[in-house]
Amino acid sequence: MRHFLAIQECTNQELRDLLTLSVELKRDQRQGTLRQTLKGKVLAMVFEKASLRTRMSFQVAMSELGGHAINLKPDDIGILGQREPVQDIARVLGRYVDGIMARTFLHQSVLDLARYAGVPVINALTDWSHPCQAMADLLTVQEHFGRLAGINLAFIGDGNNVARSLAFACSRFDMHMTVASPAGYELDVESIQAANQERECLVQMRDPVEAVQGADVIYTDTWVSMGQEAETEARVRSFEGYQVNADLLSHAPRARIMHCLPAHRGHEITDEVFESANSVIFDQAENRLHFQRALLQVLLG
Ligand code: CP
Ligand code: NVA
Repeated sequence: MRHFLAIQECTNQELRDLLTLSVELKRDQRQGTLRQTLKGKVLAMVFEKASLRTRMSFQVAMSELGGHAINLKPDDIGILGQREPVQDIARVLGRYVDGIMARTFLHQSVLDLARYAGVPVINALTDWSHPCQAMADLLTVQEHFGRLAGINLAFIGDGNNVARSLAFACSRFDMHMTVASPAGYELDVESIQAANQERECLVQMRDPVEAVQGADVIYTDTWVSMGQEAETEARVRSFEGYQVNADLLSHAPRARIMHCLPAHRGHEITDEVFESANSVIFDQAENRLHFQRALLQVLLG
């Protein structure tokens, strides 16, 4: 594995190995036996957008493994391509560091970084996808259900970057996924086709109640992703009826609740459901660290 840009670019074996290593390193961390396998390694973290979980979990993982992470925000290097071309940023960073983690608006920016940097590049969220989140989510599902195959995951809301990566991840691990979205906010047809390429695992639908029938997991994300703030009013209106609340949960009362965070209580999820015993949201957040520690070890080790 040279980069981690998209779930589709990884083989099933690579994804499985990453999950296995995540579990092993999580156990080592709990037992205090983590080894400093990235001693002397440096990761550049490029952020065009805000972040709590991604930034902290990558930085902590690098420190735990004996390496170092340097944060680069728009104030430092500008939006990629504006102060200088992405190709030049990539080639400069590639001379200084052992790996690059990037959160960008354009997906093309992480692809360009990967093409020109000469060091491993990790997609830490683009407008198109969020593969680190999806893999941490599968780790969480595996921990709570003891398996992935056959698990039914209902995603309620925007067919966005998080939903897309989750769909690709679910398809690789024989899970079933329903996505309920209002008109105009569905996953794009190409992504649905790609997720269903080997096996019919994903169904896009309109009705959230239908989507959660038989769900083991109910997942939601913000209605307004970073960069879409100007559309907030229209989006909030469009997503009316797509809230994960007690009424929706009553159709799948044993379902675990997942959310990648940050959450907007009163919009996509109610405080009651967010704080309920069904919620595994903070396990998800923690597992970002455990998945990415494994990813860094594979790519930079
Ligand atoms: N879920 C997630 O990626 O969180 P941050 O935006 O805080 O990194
Ligand atoms: N869909 C959200 C995810 C945040 C982690 C966004 O892109 O803002």
